[in-house]
Amino acid sequence: MNFNIAVLPGDGIGPEISVQGVNVMNAVCNKFSHSVNYKYAICGADAIDKVGDPFPEETFEICNEADAVLFSAVGDPKFDNNPTAKVRPEQGLLAMRKKLGLFANIRPVETFKSLLYKSPLKEEIVKDADFICIRELTGGMYFGEKYQDNDKAYDTNMYTRPEIERILKVGFEYAMKRRKHLTVVDKANVLASSRLWRQIAQEMAPSYPEVTTDYMYVDNAAMRMIQEPAFFDVMVTENTFGDILTDEGSVISGSMGLLPSASTGEGTPVFEPIHGSWPQAKGLNIANPLAQILSVAMLFEYFNLKEEGTIIRKAVNASLDENVRTPDIQVEGGKKYGTKEVGEWIADYINKQ
Ligand code: IPM
Ligand code: MN
Repeated sequence: MNFNIAVLPGDGIGPEISVQGVNVMNAVCNKFSHSVNYKYAICGADAIDKVGDPFPEETFEICNEADAVLFSAVGDPKFDNNPTAKVRPEQGLLAMRKKLGLFANIRPVETFKSLLYKSPLKEEIVKDADFICIRELTGGMYFGEKYQDNDKAYDTNMYTRPEIERILKVGFEYAMKRRKHLTVVDKANVLASSRLWRQIAQEMAPSYPEVTTDYMYVDNAAMRMIQEPAFFDVMVTENTFGDILTDEGSVISGSMGLLPSASTGEGTPVFEPIHGSWPQAKGLNIANPLAQILSVAMLFEYFNLKEEGTIIRKAVNASLDENVRTPDIQVEGGKKYGTKEVGEWIADYINKQ
């Protein structure tokens, strides 16, 4: 295949992990004789500083014309404690999702055998955890009507039937490809929007007779995820609930630096780590590049290039087994490798296969 990839390094540790994602992409393309072209574009705080817009039109054009976007992270503390800031880096990410029509965010929660001890949960609880959270990404409170003055503020959690149907369809289809168990997470005991989700899920379920569909309130799901994560196979939920639950899910595996995600829908798909820009670590060569590298595996798998994805996963596992690890996941007393060293080790491993 001839890949045209838009690379958006963004802020904080983004640029460092981005380099390693590209390194690994190159190694795999080399091995499997794919050609690849990269176009770099600015976003987030970096783009605000340069052109005053966190997702400039030119960046959109580059993404729009690419086969896939390799995204790293956005966010900068100078905006976090300033509630009056007119533009924020995060708006760039939201604009990208909306403009590319990326309504489905796929976030796998997997554990790595060699890292089970790092999980804040007991090993026997996490060892069989393997589920996917499908988060609706372009609707709900994030995008609904907003209002804010000094004394009152609101966000509107609106969902339409077509928005709900298309994301539930993704959920049912993933369940069909996996262990055929779908959990629809909502708050139907309180929220009207959730009741519509549940109603539509109940209408659709008979079309997927092989799938066991259950319904769970979000507060209960948050608890179940740490009590019995192995219960879940595919979880589907609205934007806000999915944002919160996937951060919870990400630590089950031991480090937030491990989980990749794919955002798909109508336009160019985006592959990105689930973690943020970790500004405190910027430039220190300590950030874990694995989530970014595994995002590249998801990219290949999206194009049905399974072997390419597998070789990346194999290389990542090998790096863990050989203790070539960044400080966040290194064993006590083990050598702490940098972002660059881990990425290069993995690319090298792929070259040698
Ligand atoms: C995520 C992030 C974003 C979100 C922020 C940065 C807008 O937390 O991808 O989960 O809330 O969607
Ligand atoms: Mn989040």
